[in-house]
Amino acid sequence: MAVEHLGGHGRLRGILGLTLNTTYSPGASTGTTQQVIWYDPVAGELLDWQDLLTEEALPVITDAVVERLEAADVGADADAVRQGLAEGDPAVGFTDEGALFLGFDSHTVAPGAAGTPAVALEDPAGNRWLSDVGELALEASLHPDPGAVPESPEVSPRSPVDCTQERCVALTFDDGPSATTTPELLDILAAEQVPVTFFVLGSQAQAFPELVAREVADGHEVGNHTWSHPDLSALSEDAVREEVTRTNDVVAEITGVRPTLLRPPYGATNQAVTDVAASLDMAQAMWSIDTVDWQHHDPAQTVAQAGEADSGAIVLMHDVHATTVDAVPEVITRLRGEGFTFVTVSELLGQTTPGETYSQGG
Ligand code: NI
Repeated sequence: MAVEHLGGHGRLRGILGLTLNTTYSPGASTGTTQQVIWYDPVAGELLDWQDLLTEEALPVITDAVVERLEAADVGADADAVRQGLAEGDPAVGFTDEGALFLGFDSHTVAPGAAGTPAVALEDPAGNRWLSDVGELALEASLHPDPGAVPESPEVSPRSPVDCTQERCVALTFDDGPSATTTPELLDILAAEQVPVTFFVLGSQAQAFPELVAREVADGHEVGNHTWSHPDLSALSEDAVREEVTRTNDVVAEITGVRPTLLRPPYGATNQAVTDVAASLDMAQAMWSIDTVDWQHHDPAQTVAQAGEADSGAIVLMHDVHATTVDAVPEVITRLRGEGFTFVTVSELLGQTTPGETYSQGG
């Protein structure tokens, strides 16, 4: 493909990237596909993701992705990753920091519990991985047309809320962050000035540190949902400790704040989990309202379930589903209309006892 020469100034030729996220339900389990479509409006053609890279880059990147997914410990299959990059259609784009992003559909390279595995590789340009078109795409990602991207609203500091006096509710979002769905949710929450609690997976936090950083910067709480989403009650105490501390470490490294809340996947806890949580000065945060959003993928049902909240409720949702993000504006409107004040889980619970399990405030 021919690429015009570009000087160091002036407007770059617009390469357009479009991110799609699709959820499907093959039988009993639910999957998610992620896709980034690159379009060159001058040539008038869609680009293959390989067009973004030099020929020499592919084997280097393949090895790096295999290595990173193995390190992330999400049960990725190295052969499937290699095949996915050689023959499949991974979502390839760039993070806000300019790292090369490669994401896979759920259930393709790792078990479903791993969600949509993704890797961000630093400094693709410095490593000379990008083709000329890839450089344009990176530039377009780092400096999008200002008219095309809404300004993120200012988040003003909040005054403390006394949940013994006010009708409080805590919205919680598990399993993220997701590069495809979490940014839009953060935009909505910022516009509505609603603080929530994100129970992140350590593996996802490592893949998308800028999203975890923004969660905290926007005034939200980040809790621990383990590294790889196992049933903790089926693990040894050492393995539980590894899942929890590794996640605390990566969140603390990104945000400077160490999580004080643990939400065990599936709400599955036992004495070993309780002991580990207690030794790490963490309370276990469950929920009182389960929207079951991951199962029905119906925004109206998510709104209806969240609308069942009573004072002190902790509402469980998942920011990895576009249908959940779609429901959030209405959830906020509805609960606000019922006089609720939105708070983080730690604000809702106030002083907690390490190891103790909480599913409701007040
Ligand atoms: Ni979960």
